Formats: sequence, C-alpha cells, structure tokens
Amino acid sequence: MAKVHVTTTINGDEIEFLCDTEQTLLDVLRDDLQLTGSKEGCGSGDCGACSVTVDGRLVCSCLVLAAEAEGRAVETIEGMAEGEELHPLQRKFIEHAALQCGVCTPGFLIAAKSLLERNPDPSETEIRYWLAGNLCRCTGYDKIVRAVMDAAEEMRGG
Ligand code: FES
Ligand code: FES
Repeated sequence: MAKVHVTTTINGDEIEFLCDTEQTLLDVLRDDLQLTGSKEGCGSGDCGACSVTVDGRLVCSCLVLAAEAEGRAVETIEGMAEGEELHPLQRKFIEHAALQCGVCTPGFLIAAKSLLERNPDPSETEIRYWLAGNLCRCTGYDKIVRAVMDAAEEMRGG
C-alpha cells in the first residue's frame, strides 16, 4: 500500500516522514523517529504511558494515526527539558522519588505539564482526577501527586 507523506512539527522541529495509513503516531515516534521516550504500555488507550500533546491537546499517541500529525504540532517527553536543564516537573519527580521502573513516567510528566498549563494551582483532588488516565504499577501515586504539587508551587514562584 502507498505510504503517506506527513509534514509535522515535533518539539519545535519541522519533521517529514512516510508512514502506513494504519500506523499509529506512537509507532512512528518510537520506531521511525527514534523518539523512544513515549512508552507503549497497553496500546489501547488505557494506561497513558504514550501521552503526548497534539496542538496542545493531551492525547494517547497509541490512539492517534501518524497521518493525523500532518500540519500539527506534537510535543513529546524529549522536548520537555531545555537542553541540560530539566523542567521543574522532571526535577520534582526525581526529588520526590516519584518513579521506580520509569515506564509510566514520561506519560505522567506530559500529562502533568498539560494540567499546569491549564491550571497553575490545582488542588490535590484536581491533580488526581487529571492524572486518572495514567497508570503506575510501582509508586502508589502519592509521590507523583506530591511532586506535581511541589512543581506547581515552584512554577508559581512560591
Ligand atoms: S500505550 Fe497508549 S494508553 Fe497505553
Ligand atoms: S514507576 Fe513503574 S509503572 Fe510507574
């Protein structure tokens, strides 16, 4: 079957790729573009490990066709740090030991960043609701929530 030619922006860089019509954005990111930070936990929209934003909207990249990235702006975990400087959320996840195996972590970070862009001062309940689509088998969630609250406070200048 003929390949689809896609021109998109990923983490601020204009990227072109060829994909099959049925290929997911997650597969192209990981297998063709070597952006392996987004993880495949379930492949069915249930775990959030593959979270990215498309035109600022939080999505599961396992549920998005790669061809749908045409003309859009995709942000992945690889674009979160500024060079060597980690995003406050990344630093706080480390400080709070909010990760163990790390498979869920990129998805949590992308989802939490998306929350704080919309709501810089979320309550604990709002954080837990927002992150309900991200599953973690290791941490028990509390450290993740504390890390997000702490990062939010720092980002507000508190
Ligand atoms: S891999 Fe996409 S939601 Fe689990
Ligand atoms: S740290 Fe292992 S699944 Fe979350």
